[in-house]
Amino acid sequence: MKTLSREFLEKIINLLTERIVVVDREGIIMYMDKAYCDFIHTTQDKVIGKPVQDVIENSRMHIVVKTGREEVQEFQRINGSVMVANRFPIVINGKVEGAVGNVIFPDPEHLRHFKNNIQHLVNDLKYLRSEVEKDLKSKYTFDDLIGESPAFKKVKEFAKVISGGDSSILITGPSGTGKELFANAIHNSSLRDTCPFVPVNCAAIPEELLESELFGYEDGAFTGAKKGGKKGLFEVANNGTIFLDEIGDMALAMQSKLLRVLQEGEIQPIGGQKIIPIDVRIIAATHRDLEKMVEEGTFRQDLYYRINVIKLEVPPLRERKEDIPLLSEALLKKLEKRFYRKGVAISPEVIERLQQHSWPGNVRELENVLERAINVLDNNTIELSDLPLYIRDQKTDEPNSNQSEGPSSNREWNLLTLPIQIQPLKDTLALVEKQVIEKTLEFTHGNKLNAAKLLGIGKTSLYDKCKAYDIK
Ligand SMILES: Nc1ncnc2c1ncn2[C@@H]1O[C@H](COP(=O)(O)OP(=O)(O)OP(=O)(O)O)[C@@H](O)[C@H]1O
Ligand SMILES: [Mg+2]
Repeated sequence: MKTLSREFLEKIINLLTERIVVVDREGIIMYMDKAYCDFIHTTQDKVIGKPVQDVIENSRMHIVVKTGREEVQEFQRINGSVMVANRFPIVINGKVEGAVGNVIFPDPEHLRHFKNNIQHLVNDLKYLRSEVEKDLKSKYTFDDLIGESPAFKKVKEFAKVISGGDSSILITGPSGTGKELFANAIHNSSLRDTCPFVPVNCAAIPEELLESELFGYEDGAFTGAKKGGKKGLFEVANNGTIFLDEIGDMALAMQSKLLRVLQEGEIQPIGGQKIIPIDVRIIAATHRDLEKMVEEGTFRQDLYYRINVIKLEVPPLRERKEDIPLLSEALLKKLEKRFYRKGVAISPEVIERLQQHSWPGNVRELENVLERAINVLDNNTIELSDLPLYIRDQKTDEPNSNQSEGPSSNREWNLLTLPIQIQPLKDTLALVEKQVIEKTLEFTHGNKLNAAKLLGIGKTSLYDKCKAYDIK
């Protein structure tokens, strides 16, 4: 290979307009390119052979040749303005023979221009980081847990007491009772509240991914693994709380791995040798009967004991129906915000009806019913006709209930009293349809709009049918 001539090298350096200075091991300038000379208003013949600190203001090149340590992207003040400089020692045969330095941003204008170019990236990064951090904060406190019934208050008070400790907690209760809300509130009033709250839905993450999600993996641990590896959720939750939701849905093999982590207080990311000590409080939740699962052999007994240090049983809504008025009001306030409504009220008949329902889906079901109601609402008060049929039309779920039959009783009648004779089915159906419409209109005192709503058909369709059956 042909060696580059000095002239050739100089041309390259000048073309690249880098401001370059080279010193020997004593810090004496051996070379300074034209751009650097122009930058500090001098010429090459004036500077070569001079100590660098006499030529360049605030230079540290003579220090770098002594320490042998590079200095990258350091600020340096020259002629009253701040620039950014790099300084590298030149090491030959293990000995520092000199140093080379360059100026990246010769003045604040260049720096500002560069900053402008990357500012949007920095902003994006800041935003994403705050979003991630926000996600790792628990969102609810005990004030968000609505309920004044003795059954609910007892659980809430107990939860407040245990939130201060560090023991594992198992929250049980049927679906939609607020287990996740409890977990959030407990973390928020614990000493760990400034550290992350990391919820993990064990049922939603595919079995084969759960291990890497929880414990993380090292670079190249398996095919398809992200370059550089990934932090596990246990590590993310360090010093905070991990919420293992739906723990009853965790596969047995994974249960064993989790047990080991809980016993040893450390994790080992997949594909690595590294052991990471962790300090995480465990809150687990399930709507399943874990004791029964232990008996059946589908849940590890030792893991059950580990997570069940403190048990919190959230009562189903049907056992605290006195909370329904307060809860409905609170949920409605939340929905008003979502649907941009204001001052929505609930009629006393509706409250009464809601208290008669057995709520298999608990608070979540109540939330859904109210959401549906707010969607079909004409004025500002939720009436019986705004409730879904299955709630509106049932008498009561409790056969022994001594509550009154409620306002729907005058909406029930026996179809068999209709004068039905053997005739084409089409005619019978038309007759039944006519009678049902008449009865409904009787119930709504002739209000066709309400009748259409109750029948679940459009207003025009009802008008057409009334015309066809000659209903006034
Ligand atoms: N006591 C309560 N006060 C206010 N809102 C509540 C209460 N309990 C539950 N909710 C609301 O009901 C919904 C369901 O609650 P959450 O998700 O905590 O239930 P869950 O017990 O975790 O249910 P699942 O077992 O189905 O996961 C949420 O929108 C929550 O905000
Ligand atoms: Mg849940």
